[in-house]
Amino acid sequence: MANLAPASAIPEAYQLPTLAAATKKIEGCDLTRSPVDHFRLAVATLVAEAFEEPVEKIYPATELGKKNVDISVAIVRFKKGKPADLKVWADKVIDNFKPSAYLSSVSTPDNKFLYFQFNKDSFNYHLLRHITLTSEAALANPTDPTLSYGTTTEGNGKHMLIDFSSPNIAKPFHAGHLRSTIIGTVISNLYEANGWRVTRLNYLGDWGTQYGLLSIGFDRYGNEEELLQDPIHHLFQVYVKINNAKAEQKERLDAGETIPEEEQIHHQAKKVFKDMEDGEPKAIAQWARFRDLSIEKLKGTYEKLNVKFDVYWGESQVSTESMDRATRIVQEKNLTCEDRGALLVDLTKFKMDKAIIRKADGTTIYLTRDLGGLHDKYEKYKFDKHIYVVQAAQSLHFNQLFKTAELMGEPYADKLQHISFGLVRGMSTRKGTVVFLEDMIEEATETMHEQMKSNEAKYAQVENPLETSAVIGTTAVKIQDMAGKRINDYDFDIKRCTSFEGDFGPFIQYSHVRLCSVQRKNPNVPVPVSVNEIDVSLLNEPKINDILYQLALYPTVVKNAYTYSEPSQLVTWCFKISHLVGTAWETVKVSGADEETAKARLFLYIQTRVVLANAMRLLSLTPIERM
Ligand code: ARG
Repeated sequence: MANLAPASAIPEAYQLPTLAAATKKIEGCDLTRSPVDHFRLAVATLVAEAFEEPVEKIYPATELGKKNVDISVAIVRFKKGKPADLKVWADKVIDNFKPSAYLSSVSTPDNKFLYFQFNKDSFNYHLLRHITLTSEAALANPTDPTLSYGTTTEGNGKHMLIDFSSPNIAKPFHAGHLRSTIIGTVISNLYEANGWRVTRLNYLGDWGTQYGLLSIGFDRYGNEEELLQDPIHHLFQVYVKINNAKAEQKERLDAGETIPEEEQIHHQAKKVFKDMEDGEPKAIAQWARFRDLSIEKLKGTYEKLNVKFDVYWGESQVSTESMDRATRIVQEKNLTCEDRGALLVDLTKFKMDKAIIRKADGTTIYLTRDLGGLHDKYEKYKFDKHIYVVQAAQSLHFNQLFKTAELMGEPYADKLQHISFGLVRGMSTRKGTVVFLEDMIEEATETMHEQMKSNEAKYAQVENPLETSAVIGTTAVKIQDMAGKRINDYDFDIKRCTSFEGDFGPFIQYSHVRLCSVQRKNPNVPVPVSVNEIDVSLLNEPKINDILYQLALYPTVVKNAYTYSEPSQLVTWCFKISHLVGTAWETVKVSGADEETAKARLFLYIQTRVVLANAMRLLSLTPIERM
């Protein structure tokens, strides 16, 4: 943090003495990005001296977040022996301790732990200074996502390709796609916030026998006008109809009826798909229209969710050369076997079964396209990492894909990651099981709108109630999806997740609104622009200190969310800070306080709002200012 503004501006009492270890590269210690790390390093330095251990060994043991203590260190992590032996070490630290701009005290409750307390004023000063300086830098350079508080430049120079959402044309946009869309967006944001260049790719399911079927279905049941009106809806209807017709035919066949092969829908579909694979222009042209229209429609829907893609790709775009190449290599490396004319990669040795890569009629399959696609994408994007955000049900598929790439000796085999997630139970709305993303958004918006209307007085003040309900409604759906660890299943419950009571999305929006309102409601309090304009010693309420402590933990939270691709870490933090603000609010007031106190508190609430808004944006939410 020290390099963002002249250190001379810092009042003498808060000048932090230079630590010798500051020049070392210590795992997990980021002095330019995380103010609290200066204080952890000060603790590590003291303990290292007393314990006669290297600072870098002690640093990871400096723990934040224990109740009623700022930083703790477990002595037993470094010293063994009876309680009396441990006491010798604890005393050594305590005897050498001198209060500084870093720390005010040290104690040991039991000779097992050392408890350090920050020099509160100095800590609060540096934290607030850092937050304001970073937000100024971010405001001045809005296109650089690595300037705001909590971000890093760790991924600079690296390129991450992410495949998410990836629905299938003419088929339901199911819960798996919804989760992939939500989680994939946040993971993309987290990578960008850590310096990576990110390419967001939507890999549409737009190829396979089912598109032969769709084509026949459209000839029978299609309607040009309806197609243009709402392609996704219409194609889905057509698909359902032709599927039913096919099933009916199958029943008749099973019952012994004879239907000439050329009249069998199943055969017709296979034939059309074969024509598509052979590049037959007529077969291709119709399919291409379906695809283009669907993409147009999808784009509009994604926009409502703050979701964007750099590339719309799809199974149909994978080059034949790459698929042939993959098939050739697996055969050359003796990784295949045959079964009734189909070619399979044998992965039984790795407990991954056998996987078809070429069907008996010579056509390709999901795995073939993913395998060929990898080569195409690597040639094009030269990624350093490629993430697939796809439901856990496809884990075997991705294990097979990655293992095959590895056995083929592909240079990118170690750059691949499948980020999986659990199921959503009961994803249905009043209108029935949700199959269209559009309907889900509409339902969330309506339910939210009703919730808002239940408070008439407040509702009357909202300028744009429908727009606001859309933002809070989508917040509710997203937060419901990301509140738990991604691997867990959850129950979709639109009524519950749009509630203002409890840990749901609307509560986070509400806290942001409250933080915005403090400034509006106190027009007579001068708004400080720098921490030097306030007296930090007036921020001495325990509730305020809890808020500041949570703000200090924020960079660690972002880091963990990024490292483990776990948006829930950020959601949990948003709830924590919202609860703290909720309880501080009534007692630590701006209005009615003397001017200096009012200024200090206002400044704190403004900075809290800034950090909460950063967190919300990382979660792809639009922070709203009034509701
Ligand atoms: N379209 C697929 C489905 O709905 C998901 C695609 C995921 N990405 C991939 N490269 N396989 O099941």
